[in-house]
Amino acid sequence: MKNLNLILAGVFFTLAASFGGLLLSGQVQIGQLNRAPAEEGGPLFPPNEPGLAIQGRQVYLSLGCVTCHTQQVRPAGQGNDIARGWAARPSVARDYVLQSQILIGSRRLGPDLMNYGARVKSDNELHAYLRTSMAGSVMPAYGFLYTQSKDGSFRPTEDAVALVAYLKSLKIDYSSPEAKLKQ
Ligand code: HEC
Repeated sequence: MKNLNLILAGVFFTLAASFGGLLLSGQVQIGQLNRAPAEEGGPLFPPNEPGLAIQGRQVYLSLGCVTCHTQQVRPAGQGNDIARGWAARPSVARDYVLQSQILIGSRRLGPDLMNYGARVKSDNELHAYLRTSMAGSVMPAYGFLYTQSKDGSFRPTEDAVALVAYLKSLKIDYSSPEAKLKQ
């Protein structure tokens, strides 16, 4: 076994090189990505997230919404996301640079929510939807996020308010250097 050290060193370097390559290639491709203006001198996108929305992301995460909803819009040639009206452009890596947790998701039982903020009509409607879901839907009703007052009306808890702020903040209504909004 006089070659044992050589074999171990070989194993070590093979693993280290493949692991390093895996990390490095990602870093080289998107590690330096940052916010960028849609046009020269314009405001930077993606916009800063409101504090309440950041809080709402934790609620979204804790309630497992990400198990049924994605936040990634595929380009026109790779699916029907754009044709379905989920967004006016595909999502790109830059859209996620400010997010501490990227809830891109991998399974779609419900619609993609990447641009949901552009579709939502009003806070009240969204609260009613989350509280009751839809008859026959697989989406659970999140009634526990609401308290009922004596007059029978429902009041959103702090978590519900934050969750709605988060859902409303999900928007790709700006152009990015990699994907322009269609005029
Ligand atoms: C078991 C799967 C499932 C889970 C978990 C789930 N949803 Fe859904 N969701 C759906 C489905 C399916 C729909 C499509 C409409 C329907 O059938 O109700 C939907 C629709 C929606 C819509 C309307 C989308 C649109 O484009 O109109 C919103 C907003 C939404 N869900 C938010 C949430 C949030 C927030 C959570 C977590 C608190 C959540 N969902 C958890 C399955 C799910």
